[in-house]
Amino acid sequence: MRFFGSLFKSTPKLADRNFINPITTEFHSHLLPAIDDGVRTFDESLIVLQTMADMGYKKVITTPHIMGDFYKNGFHNIPDLCKQLQLQLKDKNISIELHAAAEYMVDDALETKIKNNDLLTFGDNHILVELPFTEEPANFKQILFDLQVNGYKPVLAHPERYGYMAQRKTKYEELYQAGILFQVNLFSLVGYYSKEVQKSAEWLIANKMVHMVGSDTHGPRHLDVLQAVVRSHNYQKVCELPLLNNTL
Ligand SMILES: [Fe+2]
Repeated sequence: MRFFGSLFKSTPKLADRNFINPITTEFHSHLLPAIDDGVRTFDESLIVLQTMADMGYKKVITTPHIMGDFYKNGFHNIPDLCKQLQLQLKDKNISIELHAAAEYMVDDALETKIKNNDLLTFGDNHILVELPFTEEPANFKQILFDLQVNGYKPVLAHPERYGYMAQRKTKYEELYQAGILFQVNLFSLVGYYSKEVQKSAEWLIANKMVHMVGSDTHGPRHLDVLQAVVRSHNYQKVCELPLLNNTL
């Protein structure tokens, strides 16, 4: 309890600075404790969620990693942990609607999950997928096709972070034309990952190829940058696009 309280006080609040955040739904984060590389404890989850509530977010759909043999999360643990965290939010009077889906790595395990209809979705049958940073997996197109023919709406997490796409912008156009939704990371807007990633995010914004934004928050360590982002010029620019966040 004391740990929670003390860390909490150190987090600057935006609510008292006349800040109005036009985006009220945040849908990419790792806030279920100790099941991926995100938060380790419920206290850390609560610190992040209280700050998000202070920032004007009304709804958070958290998305733990599901990745081959590495992060074997799914229906057996995600909904239950989400429920436990919802109870703690209520207990601490933190006013934010919490849901959970997942961030799926495009791998062989995902092919099986599509076949078995074993997928955690959000919004209107949306599914968040990510790719390795090194190269595009051979089955990527097939997976996207399988998802779409099965009625899912694939959302590609942080397209600006895949160098092999950024170097060849036609790849973005190809995916965009195929109906894949693009979710840009908020941290990319201020160069948190690298200048190159920021440039790719800016290119996607300039070409109106951003359907949604997500924070990809992994813990309290990301809160300072998240709060800096919403005051940035690029955040203003991306918010001028018809983002789908608030419809999820
Ligand atoms: Fe993520």
